[in-house]
Amino acid sequence: MTTDTTDTLQDDLFEPVSAWWLSGTPLEPEHHRLMRRRLTPIVWADTTAAELSPAERSRLAETWTRRSAAEYLAVSTFAVLAIDLVAAGAPADVLSLCMRAGIDEVRHAELCLRMIEIYSGKRLQPPPGMSSLPDDPERPKLHQALANTLLVSCVSETYATTVLTATRDLTKDPVAHAVLTSIYSDEVMHARLGWSYLRYALERGGQGAIDAAAAMVPVALRGVANVVERERPIGVVTDKVRDHGLMTPAEERVIYSACVREVLVPGFEALGIPCGNANQDYGDAWAHAA
Ligand SMILES: [Fe+2]
Ligand SMILES: [Fe+2]
Repeated sequence: MTTDTTDTLQDDLFEPVSAWWLSGTPLEPEHHRLMRRRLTPIVWADTTAAELSPAERSRLAETWTRRSAAEYLAVSTFAVLAIDLVAAGAPADVLSLCMRAGIDEVRHAELCLRMIEIYSGKRLQPPPGMSSLPDDPERPKLHQALANTLLVSCVSETYATTVLTATRDLTKDPVAHAVLTSIYSDEVMHARLGWSYLRYALERGGQGAIDAAAAMVPVALRGVANVVERERPIGVVTDKVRDHGLMTPAEERVIYSACVREVLVPGFEALGIPCGNANQDYGDAWAHAA
């Protein structure tokens, strides 16, 4: 390794801003290599956070705190999904991408913690916890794997890509824009993983697989809707707050409704999965209920 390369790598290291970040063991260099896998350089010093009022900074810090918790939980989501996929005998490329998705989520949590520090000065840890996925030992492993993949990857991650795209489009702060871009580029692959495995499983699983997928569709759609409908942190979404990557709950409803209508339902139906009343359930009335 040349000196230049070493310098570049050193420059690329994120400054740890949380006790959660590093174990203080020999794992640290290997962890940095994993985290740098598809590094989008982020020039943290370019942040325009100093131009915000205390209330605006607090609103953004609280939002990134929630995002950090969600990204941290997503680490466990992909770990549990990997167990389902292994149990179902999923192909190696599906398994490796699922495991890599978990690593991506570790990095996303790190990015969120960094953003919390930028807006609040606080060096937080994500709250411990883990997500659980539906688990029925009686059902065929293929059915459980495809249903949970549909839930996690096809619905949640596909929605994440649509809302991240829209959020990124309104973001003017260069650091927030770079962070959202970095996360977005991973979430696209997390969604692609799900749609690819779903097609693979349906081609092998016959009517039983289609039924298992169809039963999960309303559950998965409701799961994301619950997140979209959730109360938000206190504080007005001012124009400046928008510039830092935040939209209103009303805007998010419209985006989710469009995602259901234009992406999720057409995608599932193209694979032969009936979607029931999804388009009505999340149609105009739901989109404008906030
Ligand atoms: Fe993520
Ligand atoms: Fe993800």
